Amino acid sequence: MSSSNFRSRVQQPRSSSELAPPSAPSIPGSRQWPVLGHPGALRGLLPFMERQQALHGDIFRMRVLRFRAIGLAHPEHMQHVLLGQRANYVKGDTYDSTRNILGDGLLTLDGPAWKGRRALAQPAFHRQALERLAAIMSESGARFFAALSARVTPDGQVLDAHREMVKLTLEVVIASLFGAGTLDSGEVSYQALGDALELLSEGVNGVRLPDWIPTPHNRKFKRTVRELDRNVYQIIEAGRALSTSNGSLLSMLLDARDGDGNALPNKAVRDEVITMFVAGHETSALTLTWLFTLLAGRQDVLNRMQEEVERVLGGRDPRFDDLPQLVYVRQVIDETLRLRPAAPMIARNALGDDQLGQYAVRAGEIVLPFFWGLHRHPDYWSAPQRFDPDRFAPEHAKTRHPWCYLPFSGGPRSCIGNMFALTEMTIMLAQLLNRFELAVLPCDDVKPVAIGTTRPSKPVYVKFTPRR
Ligand code: HEM
Repeated sequence: MSSSNFRSRVQQPRSSSELAPPSAPSIPGSRQWPVLGHPGALRGLLPFMERQQALHGDIFRMRVLRFRAIGLAHPEHMQHVLLGQRANYVKGDTYDSTRNILGDGLLTLDGPAWKGRRALAQPAFHRQALERLAAIMSESGARFFAALSARVTPDGQVLDAHREMVKLTLEVVIASLFGAGTLDSGEVSYQALGDALELLSEGVNGVRLPDWIPTPHNRKFKRTVRELDRNVYQIIEAGRALSTSNGSLLSMLLDARDGDGNALPNKAVRDEVITMFVAGHETSALTLTWLFTLLAGRQDVLNRMQEEVERVLGGRDPRFDDLPQLVYVRQVIDETLRLRPAAPMIARNALGDDQLGQYAVRAGEIVLPFFWGLHRHPDYWSAPQRFDPDRFAPEHAKTRHPWCYLPFSGGPRSCIGNMFALTEMTIMLAQLLNRFELAVLPCDDVKPVAIGTTRPSKPVYVKFTPRR
C-alpha cells in the first residue's frame, strides 16, 4: 500500500492552539484495580482488548501494572498516527528490548537515521529484486518439500505445522539473505545459524527476565548472540570479497551507497541482516500456520485453492510471473492476515500533546494501533469473525477504506518486506498444494496468544499426504 495514495489526506502538524483543550473528555476505559490496573489483560491480551473495544469504542485506556497505554482501533486513528502526525509518534522506549537484540536496524531506528537507512535498503525489495528472490524462494521451497516428502510415509503423516513452517521460512530467509547454497560450503553451519535465529526471535517476542539477571537462559542467549555475530560478520566479509552480486539481500545491502557514495559499515549490515531474519521468518511461518487452522472444516476453500494451483501450474513449481494468476491462493492469505495478523498491534510514544478525534493524547503517552481490532471493526467488515476469502476478491479492493486493513502497518514505516512475504507465502502454499493433500486436525482449542507476534497457544496438527 503506497503512502502516495493518501497524500490528499495528510494532515499538517498542528499548532498548539488546535490541540485538545484541557477540558477534552477523558479517554474511556474500564475500572482499574489498585496496583494491578487491568489484570484481565494478563489472562489474555487480545480478548481483553477486543472486550475494551466492544465496551468503550475505538479508543480506550488500559493499564497492566506500570504499563499504561491507549488502544486505537479506528482507521482514522491509524492514518493519524502512522501518516498524518507520524512525526509526533515515535518508536520510543517500548522498542528498547528489541533494540538490545537487533541493534540499530530498520525496525528500531528512528528519525533521519531511519529515513536514510530505509532509502538505502528499499531497492533490495523492488520488483526486479523480488523477481530474482522469487526464484531463490522457489528453489528453497522445492528443496524443503522434497525432504519433507522423503520424511513422511506414503499414506500420510501428522506433523506439528508450525515447526515445519518455521523450518521452511528459515530456509527461505537464509537463502534469500545470503544466496542459495552460500552456507553449504562455508564454515558456518546452517543448523547453528537456524537455532540461533530461533532463539533470537523468541528473545524479541517472548517474555523473559531482564538481561542483567544471569539466568541459564540469559547466559545461553548472550553466548548465542556472540556466536551468531561472529558467523554473520564472517559471511559479510565473504560477501564483500565476491566480485559480483549473487542477487541476495546481503549483496544488495553491500552494494548500497548513500548520497555521498558511502557503503554501509559492517555493524550496520549486521544489524540489518539480523533484523531481516527476525522480522522476516517468524511472521511468515505464523501466518501459514494460522492459515491451516482457518482451513479446518473448510474443504471448499482447500478445494478451490487446489484447483487453481493445478490449473495455473499443472504440477510445476511457481515462478514470479505465475503469481498474478494465483488469485484465490492470495485471497486466502489476505484473509488469514486479516483474522490473524502476525503483528496484532504496534506501539508508539507520543512526543508532544496531540488530539485524536475529541480526545487529548499527552506527551509521553503510549498509543497502540490495534490491528487485530481494526480488522474486526463492524463498520468496515461485514460478519467480521467469519473466514471469508472472497472479501478480498479483486473487485472489492476499491470499496475498502484504505486504512481498515493493515497487516503490514501503514504509512512510510510500514513493513519493507510486505511484498517479499506475500511472494514467499504464495509460492510456498502453491508448492505445498502441488505436492501434498492436507487434512487439518480439529483445532478449535488453539487460541491466539499475543506475545509480540500472534502465536498459537498449542501445536497445530496437519496430516501431510504426498500427492504424486
Ligand atoms: C507475514 C509477514 C510479515 C508481517 C505480518 C509483517 C508485519 C510488519 C509490521 C506490522 C511492521 C511494522 C512494525 C512497527 O511499526 O513496529 C513491519 C516492519 C518491518 N518488517 Fe515486516 N512483516 C512481515 C514480513 C517481513 C519480511 C519477510 C521482512 C524482511 C525480509 C520484514 C522486514 C521488516 C522490517 C525491516 C520492518 C521495519 C520497517 C521500517 O520501519 O522501516 N517483514 N512488519
